[in-house]
Amino acid sequence: MLALNQNISVVKPSATLAINEGVKNARQAGRHIVHWGFGQSPFPVPEGIQRALIQHAGDKNYLPGAGLAALQTAVSEHYQTYYQYAYQADDVFIGPGSKELIFQLLYLIDGPLLLPAPSWVSYEPQAKLLAKPVEWLETSFEDRYLLSPKTLLQWCEQNPQVKQSVLILNSPNNPTGQQYDQQTLKQLAAICRQHNIIVISDEIYAGVSFTKQAYASMAHHYPEGTIVTSGLSKLFSAGGYRLGLALIPQQMEQLKKALLVIISETFSCVTAPVQYAALEAYANYQSHLPYLQQCNKVHQLTADYIQSNLVELGVKCHPAQGAFYLMPSFKGLQTQQSFQTDQQLCMKLLEHHQLAMLPGSAFGMPADAMCARIATVDYDGQKALLASSIEDGCFSNIRQGIEILRGFLKE
Ligand SMILES: Cc1ncc(COP(=O)(O)O)c(C=O)c1O
Repeated sequence: MLALNQNISVVKPSATLAINEGVKNARQAGRHIVHWGFGQSPFPVPEGIQRALIQHAGDKNYLPGAGLAALQTAVSEHYQTYYQYAYQADDVFIGPGSKELIFQLLYLIDGPLLLPAPSWVSYEPQAKLLAKPVEWLETSFEDRYLLSPKTLLQWCEQNPQVKQSVLILNSPNNPTGQQYDQQTLKQLAAICRQHNIIVISDEIYAGVSFTKQAYASMAHHYPEGTIVTSGLSKLFSAGGYRLGLALIPQQMEQLKKALLVIISETFSCVTAPVQYAALEAYANYQSHLPYLQQCNKVHQLTADYIQSNLVELGVKCHPAQGAFYLMPSFKGLQTQQSFQTDQQLCMKLLEHHQLAMLPGSAFGMPADAMCARIATVDYDGQKALLASSIEDGCFSNIRQGIEILRGFLKE
């Protein structure tokens, strides 16, 4: 019999992929499904970026492991200009998606992984694959499911034997759509500095923000201990291009050297034409901005519509501040059937009402908190850019999802 690495046995296939399979099978069987389970940006990749990719189809040579030098420069300048970060060109690492870079960083940085509950579905399995201990830190609805400084400090005080740990913060957040503010980050930064916590700041949705305030990041308050990750997948709607980036501070020279070693022994470099497409995205960012803002308006329109209707139906849900997600809690709501877990609730909605959502427990929430993550992007992005309101035909699955829930909650 084939013997596998034991670490794989503790990792189940991702809940996101599982529900996606369920939806695909149902659709193949001819059933119409409202798919609020999968968070892929529905908009076309900005045309200039597509053109750059085509123009560079002939670029077939390997590139440096950390990335095309011009792209490293463009990315560091982008973050200096729009985010006021201090990372230099040689702090920039280009990888095949930020997911892969996060995995490699978790491999390299010693210590347990601290995750606010809820957190994105892939962090915990990545740590498990690496046999890295995971510590879940509780959050609350009142704190908008963001990590509170008090909770982090408490964990540090209860675990004085831990000399170094890694904390992943994600803002705007998948699954909640919430964002950290400067004040909270400043307090978290002081604790991280004092207790030697390395922060991975997952900023993959940073450009998809609906708030008027300037974007708040740990990189502002704790630059020496913060690694920022991002990429083309969400803001530029180019998930399938598989280009992510990590910004690693000068103070982590050892980590940068080690990452270069892993890159050279694993993926070598990211696909060359895609790096040229990314160069267009970051070097000419200003010219893409009006289009990106138009996409964000649609993201906000659908998120606000779903959130306000949920609240009207008596479901607890914070308005989204960014990304393409909402995380309502269905706890305490009367339906004819009672549910013990969020999984039961989501399966019932998928199998009997043709509405797909992911259970909050897939994100580390207690199953009896009855949370579900809604992805607010089940529409044709190209048509949505021309739509004048939520009443437009392209948003039928957004409106229909609400009608399904209305009926379900009255059952
Ligand atoms: C919070 C979060 N981080 C990271 C990623 C991965 O993005 P990438 O396509 O850069 O690997 C995703 C994608 O769904 C995400 O939601």
